[in-house]
Amino acid sequence: MPKDLKGRDAPGYGRHVFICGHERPDDASRPSCKKRGSLELLANIKAAAREGGLEDIRIQKSGCLDFCENGIACVVYPRGTWYRLQPEINIKSFIENLKNGTIDSSLLMRFDE
Ligand code: FES
Repeated sequence: MPKDLKGRDAPGYGRHVFICGHERPDDASRPSCKKRGSLELLANIKAAAREGGLEDIRIQKSGCLDFCENGIACVVYPRGTWYRLQPEINIKSFIENLKNGTIDSSLLMRFDE
């Protein structure tokens, strides 16, 4: 069976993490995740993931996920777990949860706040 440059023989990841990096102008009617620090958070999470040796988990920037008022928006597939991240989250703990496939319920996106 043919493999790609990383030795994979099939597409896909065990978990795929998208963190919104969208930015809107200052006078926009909706907020945007980049202005809340999403790209810095993404960079820190990716660095921690590399250090933590996360395998089969892809973490990347997304465009607007359309939950802007509840950002920093993050979704993890295949379960479709939605998070509302803050720049000051415990990144080590977030990475551990990704690694173990567990969910930190304190970070889940909610609409009752
Ligand atoms: S700007 Fe991040 S979800 Fe829309």
